[in-house]
Amino acid sequence: MKTPEPIVEIAATGRYLPSNVVTNDDLASVVDTTDEWIQSRTGIRERRIGPDDLLAAEMGRQAAAQAMERAGVEAGEVDIIVVSTATPDRWLPSTACDIQALLGCDNALAFDLQAACSGWLYGVTMAEGFLAAGRGEVALVVATEKMSNILDWTDRSTCVLFGDGSGAAVLRPSDGQRGILSAHHRSDGHLAELLHRPAGGVRQPLDDTALQSHDHLLKMSGREIFKNAVRSMAEASDKALQQAGLTGDDIDLMIPHQANIRIIEATAKYAGIPMEKVYVNVDRYGNMSSASIPVALDEAIEEGRVRPGMNILSATFGAGLTWGAMVWRT
Ligand code: UT7
Repeated sequence: MKTPEPIVEIAATGRYLPSNVVTNDDLASVVDTTDEWIQSRTGIRERRIGPDDLLAAEMGRQAAAQAMERAGVEAGEVDIIVVSTATPDRWLPSTACDIQALLGCDNALAFDLQAACSGWLYGVTMAEGFLAAGRGEVALVVATEKMSNILDWTDRSTCVLFGDGSGAAVLRPSDGQRGILSAHHRSDGHLAELLHRPAGGVRQPLDDTALQSHDHLLKMSGREIFKNAVRSMAEASDKALQQAGLTGDDIDLMIPHQANIRIIEATAKYAGIPMEKVYVNVDRYGNMSSASIPVALDEAIEEGRVRPGMNILSATFGAGLTWGAMVWRT
């Protein structure tokens, strides 16, 4: 397939990470685990955990403000704010509206998008469509995840895996050279129970029973999720590469979702991309759900690993199930 001309580009990025570092040894004093188990099964050494009262909106505001400043965008110029979060500060209204108010983006429409770990990549595609249709000139796509507030700190099989963080990007119409070349996204609601928070909604209201059984907190069938993640990220990467008219050999940098180093290695191997070309920060932050990719992208740019004319591949997977991949040129 011929490489398509990009219509929308990622103009700038930003990130926010709470300063509090929690190591694997710190967690070993909370649950029955070891640094050795966590590192060998996941590649995670430490993660950031914010204070209980740190809001997802405040984290998102800081990441978004940095991206806007780098893009040279004023608050009033933003036309759309898409916020991916699995940890909204409240059920109604959206965290996106809180971020809009904090930033003073008074000319924007703002809404939350719930696609778990895949949310930022989904959001980029939604914003791309909005800009491509000519509905606006500037889009803000934010992922903000306060995972520590929804973890079961008595469940060693999940609480060691996640961390808090936020990443954001400003999207603008492309000059025809830089920008998004392809994207492939899918979901499978039949497998919802593999990774979920059962209580707190209409289906299972938050009552004493739910609280006692910790049903309001995140539950995961790790092994099943692992298998699905490897398969789905590989398949999505394939489809996105095909759509972009490229192969793994053409990719200069892969920025995958950061859930587990073994999932990252398997996805890169399948796509034919050597690990030297894969950006990894799961060791420092754990799984920040949908904030993983924009934080990694922002760090890769800051470290000089993203240079003009590069082809970048991102792939993601999360609850839903949801998954996807995107290829873009810098
Ligand atoms: O962002 C997308 C969502 N999340 C993911 O993508 C995560 C996907 N899953 C994974 O990354 C892996 O499945 C895990 C890291 C969660 C688990 O690794 P695993 O190699 O699949 O281990 P396992 O589930 O097969 O568990 C092996 C053993 C179990 O003990 P038994 O039953 O074999 O005696 C667990 O009880 O490890 C035990 N275990 C632990 N031991 C020490 C589970 N958690 C821990 C722990 N410390 N924290």
